[in-house]
Amino acid sequence: MREESEVAMIGNVATMALVGVLVAVSLCSCASGAGGEPGGAPPARSLKDAFAGRFHVGAALGGGLFREPGQPTLGLVARQFGTISPENVLKWGPFNPRSRVYNHEGADAFVKFGRRNGMFVVGHVLFWHSQTPDWVFEDSRGKPIGREALLKRMRERVRHVASRYRKHIDAWDVVNEAILDNGKMRKSKWLEVLGDGWIEDAFRIAGEELPRSTKLLYNDYSMTMRGRRDAVVRLVRELKRKKIRIDGVGMQGHWSLGGPRIRDIEKSIVAFHEAGVDVHITELDVDVLPRKAGMWGADVAKRLEGDPTMDPYRDGLPEEMQRKLAKRYADLFGLFLKHSDKIERVTFWGVTDRHSWLNNWPIKGRTNYPLLFDREGRPKPAFDAVINVARDSAEAVKTR
Ligand code: GLA
Repeated sequence: MREESEVAMIGNVATMALVGVLVAVSLCSCASGAGGEPGGAPPARSLKDAFAGRFHVGAALGGGLFREPGQPTLGLVARQFGTISPENVLKWGPFNPRSRVYNHEGADAFVKFGRRNGMFVVGHVLFWHSQTPDWVFEDSRGKPIGREALLKRMRERVRHVASRYRKHIDAWDVVNEAILDNGKMRKSKWLEVLGDGWIEDAFRIAGEELPRSTKLLYNDYSMTMRGRRDAVVRLVRELKRKKIRIDGVGMQGHWSLGGPRIRDIEKSIVAFHEAGVDVHITELDVDVLPRKAGMWGADVAKRLEGDPTMDPYRDGLPEEMQRKLAKRYADLFGLFLKHSDKIERVTFWGVTDRHSWLNNWPIKGRTNYPLLFDREGRPKPAFDAVINVARDSAEAVKTR
């Protein structure tokens, strides 16, 4: 579905090219209260400049953005963001769908774009239970392989990406989503073949094969759930005790208008930092649509059938909801600034509302508004709110 919506966008290229220009213009005037200070440097109107010196701000890029004629969305990314993550091109399945068959094209273009723009480039993801092809766990006759054979395949994967992108990828999500809400290990083929210590195996291999300068992260959703938070803290401490490298924890940040509470997010940021690693907010978006109980989190295996009451904003987001979204984002970035000594990066999962995965999950084909840029790439009130939080904080520092 994501690909389809990207294709639909190509039909709008002329509009988008124009919008690219308009975005540049509107960015100079939209941030209410962000006019030039007499005699001073004009305040920042890009996210990357607004938070410079505090943390990187970035976005995840879908492969389709590279195929847009004129690449208007990539233009917006280059102006606004200082770090990028790939939505899919470096995952095991899309990157290496069959043994010894590699799709380098998409990943190469992604990495090149980041380098050309002097960005902090993130690799996502080395090992995950989803989007990993069956062949990884099977021999040539389709029979399950054992521990040693699987460890060898994992090492080959890391060696391959290390040899191709060694100098160009600054951080890797080494393991994604291996721990459940209650702190137990998620059932997966990794767990089946390698046993309880599989996260440790993964980090040992990554630490041995990737340069010291590459940040190695554990990444997961619902990191404010107590069971998962405590388990991740234990994991970090255990790896450190064994001198296995782990540099950061990624909190995905697939959140909503109402939850999780700021103070619970804060608890996790502080807990991970105290365990001795940096925090990365890795997949930030704020869902504004209704969900049924039990559907929070970001378990991609869960899906629901829709009914029209679950898709109330097909014709646009009412002003009151825009305000709520802006307030939620202001609160989140206020928290991130408060803890900017612990946070290395904040990455949105997507660039504009048009491309967000939340248009298709957990219900397909809805109209969602989770990001800072609207479907045409124009900044929303939530963008202004985030810029204003940065400006107010810089003012506070100046007058201290
Ligand atoms: C998880 C993964 C991402 C992405 C999203 C849904 O959060 O980490 O790679 O697949 O789900 O788009």
